[in-house]
Amino acid sequence: MADTLTITDNRTGKQYEIPITDETIRATDLRQVKVNPDDFGLMAYDPAFLNTASCRSAITFIDGDKGILRYRGYPIEQLAEQSSFVETAYLLLYGELPTETELATWRKDLSGHVLLHENIKMFMGGFRYDAHPMGIFLSTVGALSTFYPLAKNIDDPDSRRRQTLRLVAKVPSIAAYAFRHSVGKPYVYPDSELSYTGNFLSQLFKRTEPVYRPDPVLERALDVLFILHADHEQNCSTSTMRNIGSSNADPYASLAGAAAALYGPLHGGANEAVLRMLNKIGSVDHVPAFVKTVKDGQGRLMGFGHRVYKSYDPRAKVIKETADQVFEVTGRDPLLDVALELERIALQDDYFVSRKLYPNVDFYSGLIYQAMGFDPAMFPVLFAIGRTAGWIAQWEELLRDDTRKIARPRQVYIGESERDYVPLSAR
Ligand code: ACO
Repeated sequence: MADTLTITDNRTGKQYEIPITDETIRATDLRQVKVNPDDFGLMAYDPAFLNTASCRSAITFIDGDKGILRYRGYPIEQLAEQSSFVETAYLLLYGELPTETELATWRKDLSGHVLLHENIKMFMGGFRYDAHPMGIFLSTVGALSTFYPLAKNIDDPDSRRRQTLRLVAKVPSIAAYAFRHSVGKPYVYPDSELSYTGNFLSQLFKRTEPVYRPDPVLERALDVLFILHADHEQNCSTSTMRNIGSSNADPYASLAGAAAALYGPLHGGANEAVLRMLNKIGSVDHVPAFVKTVKDGQGRLMGFGHRVYKSYDPRAKVIKETADQVFEVTGRDPLLDVALELERIALQDDYFVSRKLYPNVDFYSGLIYQAMGFDPAMFPVLFAIGRTAGWIAQWEELLRDDTRKIARPRQVYIGESERDYVPLSAR
């Protein structure tokens, strides 16, 4: 059996043999399909990239029908149970789990880069008191580009490694300061005695106590959430990272763009939207009426559905367990019952079942974040901390790809054909 696709162009009666590699045909192979020799050739029209692979990647594997997610081959459930975010970030970035020595060096190197330049603090201090922390986050990441001008040497692996360390280490500091700024509290300097996530909690919540000790259950829960969010192959923000990176922009500029893509309510802003939805529903007895409004087309059930997962999002399963552990420490949020009832009803309802709409990662994460003391505006920022590891891993993979070219989609032009300019007085 030949690994080819035969295409018959019924306009001309001509046949074409197109090779199939990795279950994929190359869209550029369609260009030979022409009516006349001077035709541009056939294009694939795929707005929103529903069926277009934009790269070859060895980082994250997803089987959306079976609900499988693996980083570098390791199942997400095993990483969430046994790994730490710092170790998982190393795995994503360097392809293998670190040895004990490699992990110790990675931790030490990261803790050496946690501090922010004092001018960055001043820059962040310039935002209005009510600025959205995600707006502060993405602008500050972009501004880092001006502090590390050598980051433009993207073909230098040593420079890339330095920027990677800086980014993974500094995003929690930026996120924490964005939060402190919104509540009028001073910047907290890092505590190198604490873990990556423990230090982040200290930078967020430390008050006047000389030493801040995070609750170990909450620290672990947040670490698990970072692991679950660390990468998700070619989603909206990651493709943005690769798109910007393909123009040879530095990683800070690229990551600022990726964070901007994550800001939207259909992506990283979804858990904020979930919480607002749960608050609006208010109590379990209002759930059936709310589900009816969704089915009638008046809004979506936020936290449900996914472009790739057509079964239960494996991250949502882990998060549900994490939620139980967190609520044992913080007390149970009554909105959890609303969420559970929504899930129960939706999973039995033909509208959701027939469209394969299941809870995604964001359905329960907002409840956990809220229980830990975060305002919904901080949710996408927390997502961005975990995803930074994935964004950089994908950017690094892009730069190592010798066949890389600047991303430049085509279009199907549907506007006016040529016409003559009409002077203002004649319009
Ligand atoms: N509630 C109700 N109906 C839905 C939902 C939902 N959450 N999601 C999809 N549908 C319906 C659509 O109305 C459509 O129905 P139709 O065929 O009758 O027109 C069908 O399911 C397919 O929906 P699409 O919009 O084509 O699916 P797409 O793959 O483009 O969208 C998305 C995926 C954006 C995640 C969508 O499911 C959604 O908006 N969900 C809510 C927002 C959300 O939770 N986003 C977080 C995603 S996870 C992440 O970014 C980390």
